[in-house]
Amino acid sequence: MIRWKKRESADRANAVDNQTRRSLLNGMWLTLGGLALAEVAWLVGSFLKPLKHGATSDRSAAIVDAGPADRYSPSTVTAFPQGRFYLACLEDGGFMALSRRCTHLGCTLPWDPEKKQFACPCHASAFDIRGCVIKSPAPRPLDRFAVSIENKRVKVDTSRAIRRIGFDASEVVYVPAGP
Ligand code: FES
Repeated sequence: MIRWKKRESADRANAVDNQTRRSLLNGMWLTLGGLALAEVAWLVGSFLKPLKHGATSDRSAAIVDAGPADRYSPSTVTAFPQGRFYLACLEDGGFMALSRRCTHLGCTLPWDPEKKQFACPCHASAFDIRGCVIKSPAPRPLDRFAVSIENKRVKVDTSRAIRRIGFDASEVVYVPAGP
C-alpha cells in the first residue's frame, strides 16, 4: 500500500515536471516566433519607407571637392587617397579622375612623375596619364569617376567607378571659358 502511494506521488511529480517542461518549451517557441516576426516586419518596413525629402542616398556625401581648378598644372597627377582616385590634369589643362586600382588584379597604383605613368608594383602593368594601358597584363584602362567643374572648382563624384574600354575625349572635363 505504501509502495503504491509512493509510486502514485512519483507519477504525479513526473506529470508536473513534464507539464512544466512543455510550457517552458512553448514559451520559448512563442518568444522566438515573435522575434522572427518582429525582424521580418522591421525589414519590410525599412525597405518600403520612402527617403526623406531632399535625401539623395549617399551621392552628395560621395562628392569630393578637389579645390580650385587653377591649383593644378598641366601634365600633373594628384592623389586623393581618401577618395580612392587620382586627379589627372592633362597636357591641355583638361581633367580626369582615375581609380587607384589596377585593372589586372586590383593592386593600388602609384604615379611615377619621372616616367609620367602609373606603374603597378604587382605585375608591372603601366598606364598613361589618361589611364590607358601602355603595358599589360592589365586588360583595360583604369576606371574613372565623373568630374564636374562648378564655380571653377573641381568636383569628383566617387559614388560610382565608371568602367571603360578605351579613351574617349568626352571623358575629359575643361574649365568653362568666361569670367
Ligand atoms: S595587379 Fe597590376 S599588374 Fe597585376
